[in-house]
Order: sequence, then structure tokens, then C-alpha cells
Amino acid sequence: MCGIVGALAQRNVTGILLEGLRRLEYRGYDSAGVCLLGDDGQLQLRKSQGKVADLEAKLQQQPSAGHLGIAHTRWATHGVPSDDNAHPHMSGHIALVHNGIIENHQALRSELQDKGYQFSSDTDTEVVVHLIHSLSSEGASLVDVVGKATQILEGAYALAVVSSEEPDVLACARLGSPLVLGVGIEENFIASDPMALRQVTDRFIFLEEGDVAEVRRGGISVRDKQGGEVSRPVHKLDGGHDVADKGRYRHYMQKEIFEQPEVVAATLAGRIGEHSVLPQALGARALEILPKVKQVQIVACGTSYHAGMVARYWLEEWAGVPCSVEVASEIRYRKTVVRPGTLFVTISQSGETADTLAALRQAKELGYLGFMTICNVPNSSLVRESELSLMTEAGPEIGVASTKAFTTQLVALQLFCLALAKTNGLSAEREAELVGALRQLPQLMEAFAGLDKTVQRTSEAFAEKNHALFLGRGVEFPIALEGALKLKEISYIHAEAYPAGELKHGPLALVDGDMPVIVVAPNNDLLEKLKSNLQEVRARGGQLFVFASPEAGFSSEEGMTLIEVPDCPRSLAPILYTVPLQLLSYHVALLKGTDVDQPRNLAKSVTVE
Ligand code: G6P
Repeated sequence: MCGIVGALAQRNVTGILLEGLRRLEYRGYDSAGVCLLGDDGQLQLRKSQGKVADLEAKLQQQPSAGHLGIAHTRWATHGVPSDDNAHPHMSGHIALVHNGIIENHQALRSELQDKGYQFSSDTDTEVVVHLIHSLSSEGASLVDVVGKATQILEGAYALAVVSSEEPDVLACARLGSPLVLGVGIEENFIASDPMALRQVTDRFIFLEEGDVAEVRRGGISVRDKQGGEVSRPVHKLDGGHDVADKGRYRHYMQKEIFEQPEVVAATLAGRIGEHSVLPQALGARALEILPKVKQVQIVACGTSYHAGMVARYWLEEWAGVPCSVEVASEIRYRKTVVRPGTLFVTISQSGETADTLAALRQAKELGYLGFMTICNVPNSSLVRESELSLMTEAGPEIGVASTKAFTTQLVALQLFCLALAKTNGLSAEREAELVGALRQLPQLMEAFAGLDKTVQRTSEAFAEKNHALFLGRGVEFPIALEGALKLKEISYIHAEAYPAGELKHGPLALVDGDMPVIVVAPNNDLLEKLKSNLQEVRARGGQLFVFASPEAGFSSEEGMTLIEVPDCPRSLAPILYTVPLQLLSYHVALLKGTDVDQPRNLAKSVTVE
């Protein structure tokens, strides 16, 4: 998804802008651009379809330098990926970059065209730069004009604007798309994500909805939605992992898969006692809110939605609390009936997903008991706007396909479900048993990651395939969904997942000798039922790939490849069986030669609707 970087310093900022863009590459994009104010007082624009490396190549041919600049990675929404549609966009002495979507762009475009403005792109963004230009007048400061323009714009935006007439000012505004200010010494920065600026500062101001800011070298001033001057706190962010470092791994996704034993330990740290879960870990107000919860509504997108689907099984089984799970882009446009005592829970890696955030904001009007988020990014919008938050502690996740973020979400959700179950009469023995299982998780995760070589061999059977079917039952059904999502995201193989009992109601028609069928088969109450479903596949010549432990009693034979995994407690199976499925999609993608960390058309953090 689009990324913004801006800088104002005494030194030349070209390198800072490019490094910022590189650090945002993981979010997914299809073109990049930069605009610097040169010493000659002219705005110098360089844009390129493709990767940041293509932009750098362009800059080598046509160098550009300056102490003030803005830069952008674009993920196409309005208009194809092209040099013309790439940001920054310019109008006379003004240049800007934009994240988000301007909903009234068509009306504005015709008004501006009537005034004589000519458009050179198909983007919604270009209307903003012409609008700002049309509002500029002698004596009006850039920040005032940007503020005026925001009164006219409808939709979502994070904007960074420069003017050759104000060489010491970087103006910016946000509504619905994140924007942070990076605070330096006699130099200041802006970005859509603090990660873009970690090489230059660890101090950040998070702009709030509707804020407009004027950034100068020696100071920053912020106005709120009403135009009043406000003071926003400066947050110091901890060191954390350096995103630019893949270590000994070939891809971020691979690194993130193998980090899982370590990060699930971080999710658990300080949140479980010897035999019990510590509900306070959910936030200061948890002890007050949890006993009142009669029902849970989970809302999320993508992989995070699958985590929510798993949690439903745990909540109903352990806590006896009814739970609904829905994708954010649906619930936000549906009339819902909220029963008294319903807790609204969002799940998100980034904390900035536009649909999830919009669903939360809308839910605030609907009489929910309270709002909680399970999130990986502290200070993200979802965290700031929820009463309770449980951080997943996965560290930065760079690969677009979510791996460690998912398993840590499951761990955090398990803690939440246990905390709720505790207030709903879960016995101390059962709690101790489930907590005891969680204690073994990091070690078991290591053992499951150890299946890498076996899974790599298995992946060869998929190199020439175009379709795959994933099956699971019960709590493993969402794991099958997540396995299918991973495979389609990074290897572009069409993959679908079904609860195995549904096979005969349609998908069985697809099964023949060419269809690989991947089965998540831990030893649980549904195992015998699952085995019968697998007979239906074998009878049609389908190729089964079964992930199961020795105690499930499978063996490799004609039409069936067993990928033997270690035995594990049933409560951990959904978390652990995810790992070999991640490895499978990773190795298949390698064989297919796709862009593992930045798959085509996808973005890490989807901050537009
Ligand atoms: C994008 C990402 C997915 C992610 C989804 C939800 O589609 O590519 O990996 O699951 O957004 O993102 P969130 O940050 O809210 O978990």
C-alpha cells in the first residue's frame, strides 16, 4: 500500500528519502517517486513505474539534491501503474504526495478543469494538488492553504505538501490514513509509518484524525480539525528489530517463519503465571469489563480474520461465550443487531487497516459493551482508539504474507479466551492444563519449524499445479483457510479451503488425479470423521497430502503422502499446524519463482477501503 516519506534538514535529504522508501517497500507498491527543492529554487521531480531501485537508477542518470523533499511509493487504485500516475504530483509551485482515496475527486476535477487546470494523470490525487494551487494566494501560508483544501476534500488522506515559494516548510494533513512526524535535531521528517524513519530518529508525533501540521527545521506546529493549535505528545520508540536486516535468510517471509518460536514466547511473556493466565495483561480495565461480557463480536480482514475464526471455537468451548466473526468490509455496511453485553474485538497486524478501523469507529455508535484490539503495532490507530489492547509482540513483519503475526495473534487470542473463560467458571484444573500446554509452545514450534526439509521435498509435487484444495474440520478449518490463503498469495496457485464434511456438497466435483488435496489432520474428536472424508477423495483418484502426527494412525501409500508432524496438545494444534503450511507455500513459491516478500497486486497494510 502507498507509503510517504518527507524530510526537511540542513543536509541533502535525497538519501534519507530513498532509504525511507526502501523501508516501506514491504507494504507493496507499483511505482515510486521523489520531489526535491533544488538549490536553484526549482522543484525537481523524478518518478518511475516499478521498484525503488528503478527510481534510484533514474536518479543516477538525472541526479537531484536538496534540503527539502517528499517521496512516495504508490499502490494503484485510480489509474494504472505508470510514470504519469506515480506521485509526487505537481501544480505550478506546489508538489504533493498522498495516501488514501479522495471520494469527491470527479466533481473537483471538473470544477478545476473549468478553471483551466490541465490533468496529466488519472489519479484522484492530482485534484488535490491543483486544488491547493487554486486556493493559494499572495500572503497565504502553505499550511493555511492545505488546511483550507482539507475542508473541501472528502474521503481519506495523508498528505505531504511542499512549495517552491516556502523553502523551509513541509505541510501535511491526515484523515483516515496514518501519518507521523519524526522529530530530529534541527531537522524534522514525516512518514506514513515510523519504520520509514528509524534510521534518522526514534522520536515520533502521531498525528490525529483531522490534524494539519506545519513542519519546519526548528519546530513543528499542529492544528486540530477545528483549526485550533494543539500540542501532540512526542513518543520515543524502542530499538526493536532492524527491518532492513534479513539476517541469514533469503526472504523476510522465511525469516519470519523461523522467528516464530521466539516471538510466541514474547507473546506469552508476563501474561501467564505457573498455572493460570493473568487477565490484567489485557489492560487496566480488563478486570472491570471481562465479567460483564455476554457475547463477543470479532471483526478483522485477511489473515487476521482467520485468527478470529479460530478464536470462536475457543471462546465457545472454554468460556461458553457466544461469538460471531465477520470481515470488516462486510460488517461496516450492514445493519447489525447488537445484544447487550457484547464486546467488540478487532484483530489486526498493522492496526491501520481501513476497513477494520472504519468498522470500529462505526461500532462505537452502536451500543457495544466495550472495544478491544489484538494488534501488533503499538500506537497504531486501532490501539489508540480501543479501550483494551493486547499486543501480539511479533516485532515488525515485513513479508506481505502474514506468518508470525498470525501465530502470535492466535496465542494472544488464546490468552484472551482463557481470561474470559476464567470469569465464566473455567475450572482451575482445566486452566492449569491449557496454560501448561502454552508453556510448551515455543519448544514445539521449534520442532514444527524443523519439518522444513520434509516440506521442501513435498513442495516439488506442487511445482506444476494450478489448483489445490485444503481440508480441515472444526478448529482446523480456519487453519486450512489460512493455508490456502498463503499458497494463493505467494505462489499464485488457485487454492480453496473447505470443511472436509462439505466436500460432497460441491468441491468433490473438482477432484481428479491432478488435484492435490492438503489435509490438516491432528488427532482430535473429529479425526475418524475426517478419515471418512478422505476416502471420498481417494475414491476419485485425488492426491492427498496429510499433515498428521503418528498417533493419528496415517501412513504413506498410493495416492496419500503423509507429512508426519510431532504429537502436540490439542489446544495448540491450530497454532502449530500452521507452520508446515507456511513452509509449504514458501517452498512452492520458490519453485514457481514468484516475488515471495512482495507478491503481485498485494499490500502489507491496506489503508484504503
Ligand atoms: C492485507 C495483508 C494481509 C493481512 C490483511 C489485514 O491484505 O496483505 O496479510 O492479513 O491486510 O491486515 P491487518 O494489518 O489488519 O492484519
